[in-house]
Amino acid sequence: MKLYGSKTSPFVAKCRIIINECGLKERIEIEDVSLSPGTINIDFAKKNPLRQIPTLITEDGVALYDSFVICDYLIRMAGNKTLLPDNGPDRTRVLHIHALCSGITERAVQTRYEMAVRPEEYRWQTGIDDNMDRIKRGLSHLNDAVINAIDGPFDISEAAFVTMLRYLDFRYSDLSWREDYPNLVSPFESLNEMSCVQMAYE
Ligand code: BEZ
Repeated sequence: MKLYGSKTSPFVAKCRIIINECGLKERIEIEDVSLSPGTINIDFAKKNPLRQIPTLITEDGVALYDSFVICDYLIRMAGNKTLLPDNGPDRTRVLHIHALCSGITERAVQTRYEMAVRPEEYRWQTGIDDNMDRIKRGLSHLNDAVINAIDGPFDISEAAFVTMLRYLDFRYSDLSWREDYPNLVSPFESLNEMSCVQMAYE
């Protein structure tokens, strides 16, 4: 199998954590692909019409996306029942936290593009402020109401949590999430030390 990605994408990092945790590292080649909004990478468009990373090419030659679909596919292939529980309240809890962390990450990536790629004269500050408000409210909700649900065996929501915070450290170093949302610090530090996480950023 082949995973098309990028060293700095939090969604690729999440897939790499799942690959490591599923013991599939030796079966998946990882290739970085150069993508930039406004520049059409025709070769990659033939693999994924949305020109989006991560994209996984399966052993049957099928292109899978987005990151959740890729992780679900790999978790099922590995027969792992804890990374994404099959049913019941545990599944709902994991999906809920995953959606919250992924949503924050998506807003962070969008805003990063807005600030780093869009020419300054076309920048829409109201949209940027709106996204930053969603990011901060999301982190606050995690800090106040959700963080206690992040425990027990490692699962995909924790992969989304740790990659979200690593991305915020990488692209939003002035956000000071550790001071503003202190309940996130200890879970982040424990998860970040896991070998499946460390290996995902090598
Ligand atoms: C980034 O470098 O910020 C980035 C790269 C690819 C996807 C998402 C974010």
